[in-house]
Amino acid sequence: MNKYNICVVGSGYVGLVTGSCLAELGHRVVCVDSDRKKLSALKAGKIPIYEPGLPEIIKRCRKLGRLHFAASVKEGLNPPGQRADVVFIAVGTPPRADGSADLSAVEAVAEEIAKNIKDYTVVVDKSTVPVETGDWVSRTISRFNKKGVPYDVVSNPEFLSEGTAVKDFLNPDRIVLGVTSARAEKVMRGLYASLPGPVIVTDVKSAELIKHASNSFLATKISFINAVSALCEKVGADVSQVAHGMGLDKRIGPLFLRPGIGFGGFCFPKDLEAFYWISKQKGYDFSLLKAVKDINEFQKSWVIRKVEEKLWNLEGKTIALLGLAFKPHTDDMRFAPSVDIAQMLSQRRVKIRATDPVAMPRAQEMPAMKGVTFCRNAYECVKGADCLVLITEWPQFKDLDLKRAFKIMRTPLLLDGRNLYDPAKARAAGFTYCGVGK
Ligand code: UDX
Repeated sequence: MNKYNICVVGSGYVGLVTGSCLAELGHRVVCVDSDRKKLSALKAGKIPIYEPGLPEIIKRCRKLGRLHFAASVKEGLNPPGQRADVVFIAVGTPPRADGSADLSAVEAVAEEIAKNIKDYTVVVDKSTVPVETGDWVSRTISRFNKKGVPYDVVSNPEFLSEGTAVKDFLNPDRIVLGVTSARAEKVMRGLYASLPGPVIVTDVKSAELIKHASNSFLATKISFINAVSALCEKVGADVSQVAHGMGLDKRIGPLFLRPGIGFGGFCFPKDLEAFYWISKQKGYDFSLLKAVKDINEFQKSWVIRKVEEKLWNLEGKTIALLGLAFKPHTDDMRFAPSVDIAQMLSQRRVKIRATDPVAMPRAQEMPAMKGVTFCRNAYECVKGADCLVLITEWPQFKDLDLKRAFKIMRTPLLLDGRNLYDPAKARAAGFTYCGVGK
């Protein structure tokens, strides 16, 4: 297998996982980040994100001399005695106020790449970007590439889920390569040659659309089952049974049919908005995506509706939130439903107690979580509370001793926002139990 010299620009979730895993495959990788603080932490062996398996890979690859960190694109592209064959753009594409993706960081990196490449280079877009970004990156590079150094732009979207990102990288369902030349395709195939999973080669725009369409479709599946769960509650049906019955149809499949208090994270909400926005800009009103978003917003108010139904006046009552991260096995609080829920509760002057196995330090920094009492564990959190709300389905919470929790709570109300608990067991422990869509 050919070993390549790679530069990854942007050492956030996507860039750090991509760079480290490429080094794990045997390539020589330099990860670049302009944030000096993050860079010195990385150089000191401190990993800024919680991602199972990642610290071990970083440690191993650094020891083997295959993974380095640098502060500039120039340095990353031209480390001592080497030259990058491939450069990944993995910088952030945060949402603007109107929902469109802010691509200014991508443009700035493209300019830097153009000014610093010395020989044929494959420029890979790894960040999630709207369709036609590849064209813009290519135009930007040709504008600043005064010496006319040859290059190709490739779209190679990531499909990493937080919490399982390393596993997803090393065992992909598919590798999508949106290319414009056979030369770039050869390099990209070589890069991933040791990975299992089919390689799909497309044009650049189709690759860009595969990413946005996949994430939006998964979000649609979740909103669909959440809408069904609302109907289940109205007629007294059980959404778990409905989802099971639907999911056994191979054309539907069982995954992403788990109802709950809404999806969050830095991908689904932002990609849904950006996909809607780019469709509209191109002259198509993708109204389905708007409905998916609206259902998700409504779903986040499930806790408030239930708690008001069960506890009457909320002012002065204490509510314990178990879990803060947008999903288990991550410390990511971006667009986490817990934040909206905490805000809705504090508007009603509720006393909020909360705990999370790993996301508390990040949650504590958030202005929206001001006034929340953070607790070391679930029992401390539910002590004296009028309601336990399960927000994130961490395994630790699944193992909660419900009888013990019942004894120390003031009012034994359990709102299971992720249908984690067995309703019969919760009721047997003394709780008034409410699950989503049950
Ligand atoms: C997602 C995509 O899965 C991944 O391919 C892409 O690269 C990035 O975006 P991620 O945001 O890490 O990954 O998490 P994911 O596991 O997809 O969950 C997203 C949200 O949907 C979470 O809030 C989760 O709780 C929620 N969800 C997921 C449901 O509510 N129900 C489900 O059935 C599945």
